[in-house]
Amino acid sequence: MTELAVETWQLTRHFGSFVAVNAINLRIPKGCIYGFLGSNGSGKSTTIRMLCGILQPTSGSGSILGLDIAKDSEAIKANIGYMSQKFSLYHDLTVLENLEFYAGMYQLSGQQKQDRIAEMIAMAGLRGRENELTVNLSGGWKQRLALGCAILHRPPILFLDEPTGGVDPKSRRMFWDIIYDMAAQGTTVMVTTHFMDEAEHCDQLGFIHQGNLIASGTPNELKAALTGTLVEIATTDPIGLLNEFQGSHLPVQDAYVYGTKLHVLVEQEQLALLERWPYQIIAPTMEDVFVQYVQNNRREG
Ligand SMILES: Nc1ncnc2c1ncn2[C@@H]1O[C@H](COP(=O)(O)OP(=O)(O)O)[C@@H](O)[C@H]1O
Ligand SMILES: [Mg+2]
Repeated sequence: MTELAVETWQLTRHFGSFVAVNAINLRIPKGCIYGFLGSNGSGKSTTIRMLCGILQPTSGSGSILGLDIAKDSEAIKANIGYMSQKFSLYHDLTVLENLEFYAGMYQLSGQQKQDRIAEMIAMAGLRGRENELTVNLSGGWKQRLALGCAILHRPPILFLDEPTGGVDPKSRRMFWDIIYDMAAQGTTVMVTTHFMDEAEHCDQLGFIHQGNLIASGTPNELKAALTGTLVEIATTDPIGLLNEFQGSHLPVQDAYVYGTKLHVLVEQEQLALLERWPYQIIAPTMEDVFVQYVQNNRREG
């Protein structure tokens, strides 16, 4: 049996009468990069905050490395790394001062403290910029500094809440390279994102929609579970074409606007029905896969 780093049982959080997270059962193996995907407001941060012992569940329970998220929140905080959506840096402190502040919080001292700080400065590519004010760093540098602050104490598990929001593509790639390295060394990483392309970086995924975990598995398992042939139709008016499609009552499984194009899911035998449009058969992206799970969930629910 694989050892689990994170396990939850019917984990639930209400805000008043609103159900932000609804009876979620997560199982994240040790050493895994687990991507938690969902659109804005779907309950990602609320889940992460419960797992990190920052927010009490309304009902249900969870365990992080054998620690109870409701009862052992102090021990959990000492044993995890957490990088919030807002990066939690002190903008009026320098790079070095931010790292020193977090080192103090994790009770690092002496040579060990100096060594870890130097290691993080190198990791973040911030050598030579130690005395710059954090406020003056651009998004990618801030992001890597925030990561450095979150992993100074070498936590065995790391929670990253939308770490790549507002960061340029090159920095996003650099960031993922660091995450791969950490996972290769045995760190468990749970990362939330609404960038579906980043899902391909993960070993396992969970899709969350309106507080419900609607699918989970490896990227390939999630793709393979969908049936049908996906086609893309180029058009200058995707919304108009979608309306036309919906009005035509063709027996397609699904049709939706995808960027500036229309994506249509049909059964192989029905492809002929699309003859009058210039369509192209394509492989589904993770975004397509996500849309399908959300649609299936809506139909069932
Ligand atoms: N402290 C709070 N009080 C009331 N509602 C909240 C609070 N925190 C989050 N919510 C609501 O719960 C839902 C899920 O929020 P969140 O977990 O932040 O979503 P995500 O991180 O996926 O964007 C949203 O509708 C949000 O408005
Ligand atoms: Mg969030």
